[in-house]
Amino acid sequence: MKRYIPISRVEGRASRQAHCDLPKGTYEREMSKEGFFGPAAFFHHRRPPTGWSHFEGPLRPRAFDLAALAPSGASPWAACHVLSNARCAIRYWRLPASMPRLARNADGDELLFVHAGSGELYCDFGRLEIEAGDYVVLPRGTMWRIDCTAPVDLLMVEATNSSYQLPDKGLLGNHALFDPAMLDAPRIDEAYLAQQDDGREWQVEVKRRGACSVITYPHNPLDVVGWHGELSVVRLNVRDLRPVMSHRYHLPPSAHTTFLAERFVVCTFAPRPFETDPGALKVPFFHNNDDYDEVIFYHAGDFFSRDNIHPGMVSFHPGGFTHGPHPKALGRMFEQTRPGTDEYAVMIDTRDALDVGEGAAAVEWTGYVDSWKVQP
Ligand SMILES: [Fe+2]
Repeated sequence: MKRYIPISRVEGRASRQAHCDLPKGTYEREMSKEGFFGPAAFFHHRRPPTGWSHFEGPLRPRAFDLAALAPSGASPWAACHVLSNARCAIRYWRLPASMPRLARNADGDELLFVHAGSGELYCDFGRLEIEAGDYVVLPRGTMWRIDCTAPVDLLMVEATNSSYQLPDKGLLGNHALFDPAMLDAPRIDEAYLAQQDDGREWQVEVKRRGACSVITYPHNPLDVVGWHGELSVVRLNVRDLRPVMSHRYHLPPSAHTTFLAERFVVCTFAPRPFETDPGALKVPFFHNNDDYDEVIFYHAGDFFSRDNIHPGMVSFHPGGFTHGPHPKALGRMFEQTRPGTDEYAVMIDTRDALDVGEGAAAVEWTGYVDSWKVQP
């Protein structure tokens, strides 16, 4: 058990309840340990903590327009490297047509998030249809391919050397956020059995330690006729999420955790009503995220706390960078004009620093850091 230095104070003009009843005309900033789980301090600033006039150096926040990337070709291992560290690799793959080869990741579990398009996933476990908004978890070692019915854009999140798990839902109970019964698995059906005798040679591209090896079979190796066990590819669509909210308290992003792996978490922002208590914050509070690098992929909807962000973009806030709502959203800190958010976004928070891939740097929106600037 961790023993942080114990102190609890209320100093100067301050609220005693986080994210609520701020002293008039102030802006709240949270500084915390363990993401939003550890000891924290809540400062009441007279001016927005992001009201800078200049920002220089490598800590600047960055944004990339992945929708502007060219189609990446037929191999997931040739997809654009967006951000990575030793435990997590984020790629963006624009697959224009069905994969002519099979893929297998020997480096870790892979999470696919289908941003656009549709198709069928054929794998060791059977056949599974995929569409926009689907998460598909591929356990390390799964052999798979996608047949496209429309070009597929995928965010790929590799849990390098680890496995995806579900979060502990604590007081909410196991069936909150999404019921485990909502997880779908591939089926060994007629279409799956029918593709086994296609009379052609197949190649499997296996990735290990980042390098790709190619194994050639004189037949289709997806020739499983049955299986049993408690390990499988699973699918979950974001429309099946039941986000929690409180009418009196702005919940931290960790309340929206969908999957976790070693040293990172994957959260999903799904449409939810705004808080209604007059004293409760209705926008994200300012914070430093000192312990985590934060990545948000914008999937669909109107991103209520961000300006100039459209679907297919990704933002990257390195740990230590103070951020919060953009100036336009800040004006609606305590009063929203709409009943709720309609955004879908995937957030990946990593405990270790991420490096930006070359492919992503080519589609960077360099003006992102200035999007918080208070206009004179
Ligand atoms: Fe953040």
